[in-house]
Amino acid sequence: MASIGIAIHHAAALLRQGEVVAIPTETVYGLAANAFDEAAVLKVFQVKQRPSFDPLIVHIGQREDVSRVVKELPPGAEALMNAFWPGPLTLVLPKQPAVPDLVTSGLDTVGVRMPAHALTQELLRSLDFPLAAPSANPFGYVSPTTAQHVADQLGERIPYILDGGPCVVGVESTILGWEGDRWVLYRPGGIAVERIEEVIGRVHPQQRHVIPVAPGMLESHYAPRKPVHLGDVPSLLRRFAGQPMGVIAFRETHPAHRCEVLSERGDLAEAARHLFAVLRELDQSDCAVILAEVFPDEGLGRAINDRLRRASCLNIPSQL
Ligand code: TXA
Ligand code: MG
Repeated sequence: MASIGIAIHHAAALLRQGEVVAIPTETVYGLAANAFDEAAVLKVFQVKQRPSFDPLIVHIGQREDVSRVVKELPPGAEALMNAFWPGPLTLVLPKQPAVPDLVTSGLDTVGVRMPAHALTQELLRSLDFPLAAPSANPFGYVSPTTAQHVADQLGERIPYILDGGPCVVGVESTILGWEGDRWVLYRPGGIAVERIEEVIGRVHPQQRHVIPVAPGMLESHYAPRKPVHLGDVPSLLRRFAGQPMGVIAFRETHPAHRCEVLSERGDLAEAARHLFAVLRELDQSDCAVILAEVFPDEGLGRAINDRLRRASCLNIPSQL
């Protein structure tokens, strides 16, 4: 069973030996390995039971390290890094040959970000390699936002979980890719697209691809085991009447067996911070179904709706 603690030197020693360690970030916990060590990265895929066609994000400790993994910076990249790093923004950029194909699933691009978490920054500074890390959950399940979430699901498979407390952002990073002449949004996340557009102008929506090249393009993702239905809560409550229902609401409570209000004061950042813990709780509760409200489609509300939509992919209302 993994031990849980705050011993950065222990985490660093394990990572230098090619082991996999769970690390805290401001978004969600990551399952980290030496990004330049193919054997260590392979363990990440094994622990997570992740298909090898889904590439990993490379985490760096300081700006100078970008050039170790990225070949060239397209227009706007510097401005984005200046504005949002360290922080929940991942940039998909042309990769250096030193980054193993396993990390990028054979793509010639690499996703890179500088996380804003004091423990992990100190860890990265003590290492002479960057860390490849997906979210520290079994593939397809809800991402972990506490060390205990990681221990519950992957504790048997990894030696150590670095405990940085509950994640303050609570949803994964926003992912942007440079596609030759434009920035494309691959995944809405912890930095609102509106803020990004203030820095680089228009960010383009992603075209539909036949083969998933980007996050969450696999239909079911971020999904609890219980069915999740997204839409107008009063109508959903009528539809499932007679079953114990768990509701995820933004500001106001609903008359259900369980109702979790994510932010009474109507703060989307606060709602995002609580989203995954609440999804896990309701998944483990005695509720038969999980019902969720559609959040305002702005700021972090877009990331919340994206995760809820994927969690409920078999039960999507047609307007989404
Ligand atoms: O906030 C986060 O981004 C967290 C923390 C741990 O940093 N990480 C995270 O990793 O959410 P993961 O692996 O669960 O999701 C990363 C997504 C993947 O779905 C993958 O498809 C996409 O990033 N990605 C990584 N490299 C890519 C690339 N070269 N091209 C397109 N998509 C890429
Ligand atoms: Mg993930």
